[in-house]
Amino acid sequence: MRKLIVGNWKMNGSLAVNAELLAGIRQGLHKVQCDLGVCVPFPYLAQCQILLEGTSVVLGAQDVSSHAVGAYTGQVSTRMLLDFGCRFAIVGHSERREFCGETDEVVADKVQRALAGGLTPIVCVGETLENKEDGRTQEIVGRQIDAVLRVLEDAEIAGLVVAYEPVWAIGTGKTPTPEMAQEVHAMIRTQLVGRIGDAGKGVRILYGGSMKPSNAAGFLDMTDIDGGLIGGAALKAADFLAIASVASARN
Ligand code: 13P
Repeated sequence: MRKLIVGNWKMNGSLAVNAELLAGIRQGLHKVQCDLGVCVPFPYLAQCQILLEGTSVVLGAQDVSSHAVGAYTGQVSTRMLLDFGCRFAIVGHSERREFCGETDEVVADKVQRALAGGLTPIVCVGETLENKEDGRTQEIVGRQIDAVLRVLEDAEIAGLVVAYEPVWAIGTGKTPTPEMAQEVHAMIRTQLVGRIGDAGKGVRILYGGSMKPSNAAGFLDMTDIDGGLIGGAALKAADFLAIASVASARN
């Protein structure tokens, strides 16, 4: 399966910083053979759409509303994202689950709306440190995946991207071993295949959480790790491109 590397810029950037970062990424694109995307803050979608025009880098957002249109102050709809050339939206990132109170049900609604509107949701799941220490990783991740699969048709499930991001690995420099991550990815794969059969083998499952050039190969060598969702390292063109190059060598 072709690997997918997506940068999640989170709440970082400015017009000047984005321009420099994207110029740096553009310069190295001739060497990239994997799929590449960046999920940028809403106010910068227009800028990034223009700066990425004519490149293979796909644009995405970091969230999307579960509603189609109307009186939902502060929310951004699928249709608006499509207006700016978005193809992806991250849904259910742990920082939204934690700081914005997003439940499994809200995440499932958003995923359903994104798919119905023609966007590819990157559905984030992952256990907290406490969950991990209690030995509940598989239970928590399994439940988060189930909540999404339950509301979707089989054909929609085939259009998902999933990202396994252990919460304790995000921005901490700590990571599971590739083998530990693979175990969770394999469980997610089993859930997908259990529900939609062989088509589940084609759903990309990304790893996220302190992925950087020096540890990317270990993760991307694993059978069910089909790419990465990159936070901090996506803010430096050289690091982001270095991870993309590791992924390109493993397509
Ligand atoms: P870091 O790569 O900074 O750990 O962030 C991972 C992440 O949350 C991507 O969505």
